[in-house]
Amino acid sequence: MRILLMGPPGAGKGTQAEILGRRLGVPHVSTGDLFRDHVGRRTPLGREAARFLDAGELVPDRVTTDMVRHRLDQPDAARGFLLDGFPRTVRQAHALSAILSARGEALDAVVEFTAPEEVLVRRLLARGRPDDTEDVIRHRQRVHHRETVPVLGHYAGLVRTVEAVGTVEDITARTLRALGLPEGVSTR
Ligand code: AP5
Ligand code: MG
Repeated sequence: MRILLMGPPGAGKGTQAEILGRRLGVPHVSTGDLFRDHVGRRTPLGREAARFLDAGELVPDRVTTDMVRHRLDQPDAARGFLLDGFPRTVRQAHALSAILSARGEALDAVVEFTAPEEVLVRRLLARGRPDDTEDVIRHRQRVHHRETVPVLGHYAGLVRTVEAVGTVEDITARTLRALGLPEGVSTR
């Protein structure tokens, strides 16, 4: 399965990707997690990316796309992946199309998680990651609307919209149904 998980900051992309990745036997690839790993290890990429993460701005497309291409070249992604937080711009979507077509692959589905902004802000304030201050959270929401919502148009026909309000378990069940998978599914 090759699936994109999209939705605003706090929608639960990472939470659901962990669960679905285990169920489907494919890796959870989060560009945010990859950047935070580089920041933590103080690599050159991490030093470049840190100021964008802190401000809630997008890291430049080329840097991000190169990182994703490299991650998808790892052997564990050969059978599929759950991409969380990429693509986030129309340019990244075009780059992903090129990466996949060079591999002779195509996406199976795009899951769009939706939730009201006040729910998202409340969840993120409770989490308290360094970029989870109220100002930066609100800015990330604006960047999402401006840069990432238009990406859904690129995937017309593949998008399954899932309401991401409720318990984690309910949202997993809704997502599996939206993907046409039985709730007990496991490919392991
Ligand atoms: P990234 O790490 O992707 O952050 P984000 O998109 O802002 O999303 P979050 O991780 O905050 O939310 P989520 O939807 O994953 O929700 P989660 O499961 O964590 O990106 C961070 C930064 O990296 C960006 O700002 C940018 O700088 C850079 N970046 C990343 N990708 C990039 C790209 N492609 N291009 C350029 N730059 C990029 O859940 C949130 C909280 O809610 C958690 O505490 C969770 O426990 C809780 N929760 C989850 N589900 C529920 C539920 N059902 N009920 C109650 N609480 C819940
Ligand atoms: Mg996340």
